[in-house]
Amino acid sequence: MTRLATQYAGLSLANPFIVSSSSLTNTIEKIHRCEEAGAGAVVLKSLFEEQIYEERVRAADPDLGMTYHTEAAAYIHQMSMDLGPEDYLGLIRGAKKTAKIPVIASLNCVSSEWWQDYALRIQKAGADALEANIGFLTHDPNAESADIESRILAIVQNLLQGLKIPLVVKIGPFFTNPMALIRKIDRLGAAGVVLFNRFYQIDIDVDSLELRSGYLLTPREDVTLALRWIALLSGKTKLSIAGSGGIYSGEDAAKYLLAGADAVQVCSALYKHRVEHLRTMTTELSSWMQKHDLASLDKFRGRLSQSGHGDPAAWERHQYIKALVGLE
Ligand SMILES: Cc1cc2nc3c(=O)[nH]c(=O)nc-3n(C[C@H](O)[C@H](O)[C@H](O)COP(=O)(O)O)c2cc1C
Repeated sequence: MTRLATQYAGLSLANPFIVSSSSLTNTIEKIHRCEEAGAGAVVLKSLFEEQIYEERVRAADPDLGMTYHTEAAAYIHQMSMDLGPEDYLGLIRGAKKTAKIPVIASLNCVSSEWWQDYALRIQKAGADALEANIGFLTHDPNAESADIESRILAIVQNLLQGLKIPLVVKIGPFFTNPMALIRKIDRLGAAGVVLFNRFYQIDIDVDSLELRSGYLLTPREDVTLALRWIALLSGKTKLSIAGSGGIYSGEDAAKYLLAGADAVQVCSALYKHRVEHLRTMTTELSSWMQKHDLASLDKFRGRLSQSGHGDPAAWERHQYIKALVGLE
């Protein structure tokens, strides 16, 4: 008998599989379906900063236009988002009334201006935790990395003011040293990190000579992207870590846990194979644990992290050289 229970950002989860923020979790019915399929927790579809801006501006003056982050804001406006800020609070309340698993609300933030009171409204609506997807790509060629990181930390600091529920920060992989940023997020008082968010990809249509959206789902090969950073971070931060990116099987989840993750987030696999695939993944993880005689996650979490290696840089360099030599 294997025990899959885990602690993540102060929450008790029956198993480590969390359904990532996406339209898989944007209605009560879908959240219920995730729970039925065996999710350990769900992260609700994000509310976008532009939606809060839209509500505020319209409350002040209905004729005011979309002047903020114009492209994204216009898109959101055009979609006439079915879930505005008020509806979002309703979704949290409804989810909490019906679901027994932890419900994590999600905000997609690009600046620190709008959040103070909205995060508190999310807390009041009953969310078990709040995840902040702080995802902006830099378009300014003069922007310094330190400035970009300060902006992220300012958002975290702002969100934490008066917040009693755990705050989890979801970031992308593109930092010179993600570990230094994550340790600063830890020192500010967050409870967890999601490694990593996947950025929207652009592609080029060579027939129409236009830009187009790249493939939305994560390819399976990307499962290794976050493993290195989780393995390096494990034991060096108090933050809970959710591994995310290209997890399609129970064995993929086992890799993240071996690297040191406390939980995993799954999205693309569920779009591809339906939410019920969660059940298969959970069974696969249990079978893998049985095969290796591991009764609970504590028996192997972080076993392959790099905290046991005196010199992780030398270890990595050795693996790198071995891989290159193997190719030739
Ligand atoms: C269709 C779709 C919608 C998404 N919407 C959100 C969102 O609203 N907020 C968010 O933080 N991430 C969103 N994501 C990103 C996922 O939560 C997840 O971080 C990413 O897909 C990587 O996980 P995966 O490899 O398991 O797909 C979305 C992803 C997809 C494919």
